[in-house]
Amino acid sequence: MHTRVLTGITTTGTPHLGNYVGAVRPAVLASKDPNVDAFYFMADYHALIKSDDADRVEASRLKIAATWLAAGLDPNTATFYRQSDIPEVTELMWLLTCVTAKGLLNRAHAYKAAVDRNIENQEDADAGVTAGLYMYPVLMAADILAFNANKVPVGRDQIQHIEMARDIAQRFNHTYGRDFFVMPEAHIEEQVATLPGLDGRKMSKSYDNTIPLFEGGAKGMREAIMKIVTDSRLPGEPKETDDSSLFTIFKAFASPAETAAFAEALRGGLGWGDAKQALFERVEADIGPMRERYEALMAKPDDMEDILLAGAAKARAIAGPLVETLREAVGLRRSSSASKAAAAPAAAPSIAKAKPPRIASFRDTDGSFRFRLFGGDGEELLLSSAFADPKAAGAVRQTLGTLGGANAALEAQGDAVVLSIDGNAVASGALPADEGARAAHVQRVRAALDALAAATAEEAAAKRKV
Ligand code: TRP
Repeated sequence: MHTRVLTGITTTGTPHLGNYVGAVRPAVLASKDPNVDAFYFMADYHALIKSDDADRVEASRLKIAATWLAAGLDPNTATFYRQSDIPEVTELMWLLTCVTAKGLLNRAHAYKAAVDRNIENQEDADAGVTAGLYMYPVLMAADILAFNANKVPVGRDQIQHIEMARDIAQRFNHTYGRDFFVMPEAHIEEQVATLPGLDGRKMSKSYDNTIPLFEGGAKGMREAIMKIVTDSRLPGEPKETDDSSLFTIFKAFASPAETAAFAEALRGGLGWGDAKQALFERVEADIGPMRERYEALMAKPDDMEDILLAGAAKARAIAGPLVETLREAVGLRRSSSASKAAAAPAAAPSIAKAKPPRIASFRDTDGSFRFRLFGGDGEELLLSSAFADPKAAGAVRQTLGTLGGANAALEAQGDAVVLSIDGNAVASGALPADEGARAAHVQRVRAALDALAAATAEEAAAKRKV
């Protein structure tokens, strides 16, 4: 079974060594697990809540994207995208907003802290609090639920948000009578070190005690490391490793054997200056090659843009059909199905009724024309090739509408099922990873094409009657 692991990275600020050890490194590692389907995104809509400095938001998006790629995230294995490239997220946010209890949001830690601060300062409780801050948990729920993520790696401060996402999902499922959403689980990496900063407190931008990851080059990193606070023991005196942030940072990069040798040297009287140099060299051995990749990426923002847009297309292929199903479920139906629903007996939940498959056209980000075939349950079955000419896309779309399953040239090719017309591949869809389920899936596509042809014929007949 594949586990969908999803996490968002708020794009404010510049990544530091603590972010790398605490978040980037474990997430990149997890994405390499063949049983994991990783969805990592830049939470740039969330960034707007924290910062109204447009240039800073833009710069941070770029740096963070480059950081994750440089740290070894493979965008072909993982789905790596910007939240703001997925309009379904904000759309879902509204659907969720309408079932979310205001009281639930009143209890969110970040909002409550802002209110408490205001009250302490004898100001109006909501002074300076935007509705964006207030809605933060719903946006985050939409991030997670749009992709039916199973596992959400987060820091402890975010656990409440995952609990809220579950609450909101349950409320939605209950209100609309079906299990639309998978319940996400927060995942806290227990073994991952929280890196101490220069002063021994947790490394954090807000304490101004960070070691930069890539910015400032090797020189900047060395300079920061030289500023790590140590005790005043002189070279030759044995050093404690237990409370030493220098040692803790070393350990976060080194193998157990290297760590033991370093501890031994410190106990044997290694001077702090030499210890800092050793730490710098050990960290640089890992970070140096990444920094080179980072700089190459930062020099070519257009290439990065392409990577992110491809990631968004992958992500939307999942969120799109889900949000489409939800729109139907809440009653935001196209007029044709609305009239059908109105005609149906009131007791029957309209979503339980078998719906015909449908085709939806859209304009791709590169300007080409495409369409998708969705099954009656809203599952995406096929995505057409990209057509430069809308007429060509329309012609193929029309053919598909009347083709019927028996006449369809469908062929499994690798991970995809490919549909050809007159020997040309015109559309393809994902096949289930499970070998055994593949034939059944191709059957489903055929059945959908049959149902589509039947619906097209019915529509044509209805038109003739009018
Ligand atoms: N709020 C998270 C943080 O500050 C970032 C985030 C936004 C996120 N959307 C998410 C994390 C969805 C996990 C899942 O760290």
